[in-house]
Amino acid sequence: MSGLDGIAVSFRLNGEERSLMAAADRRLIDVLRDDMVLTGAKEGCGVGRCGACTVLLDGEPANACLLMLWQFEGRDVVTPEGLDAETDAAILREALAAENAFQCGYCAPGFVMALLSLLRRNPDANEADIRAGLEGNICRCTGYHSILRGARAAAEALRPARAGDHP
Ligand code: FES
Ligand code: FES
Repeated sequence: MSGLDGIAVSFRLNGEERSLMAAADRRLIDVLRDDMVLTGAKEGCGVGRCGACTVLLDGEPANACLLMLWQFEGRDVVTPEGLDAETDAAILREALAAENAFQCGYCAPGFVMALLSLLRRNPDANEADIRAGLEGNICRCTGYHSILRGARAAAEALRPARAGDHP
């Protein structure tokens, strides 16, 4: 592959150092799903509108459908699979499940990534904060009430856990 159509990048993916060479405009969502077989992040709109492809990029939610290879050199990328060992993510997922937050579930990984990022940055997030934090995520099934119930329950459930983490 020539330098004109291919570049080498190194980045951190779910805690592991990874390197690959591909076209500079190859999208992160394709790298994840096709090259790494990490299918937790979904492709919905493909143009940055639905949030189904949300990952954490240096801890902040980012749309993997909009990120090209050259943009994640040296960055820290976490996919839904990368949350599996995280206690706060388990609490969040349980709270959402207890409220039957999702129906088909296609949007769920994106909502979890966005919510987790929000609650890590702002453990005292209120209703307005939660709504603002989820502005980039679309659900075609639920009408959002169940997701918001689950998000509020998750915020409540995570407060004591965070207090315990930081005495
Ligand atoms: S698929 Fe990336 S925002 Fe919709
Ligand atoms: S539960 Fe189906 S798109 Fe959200």
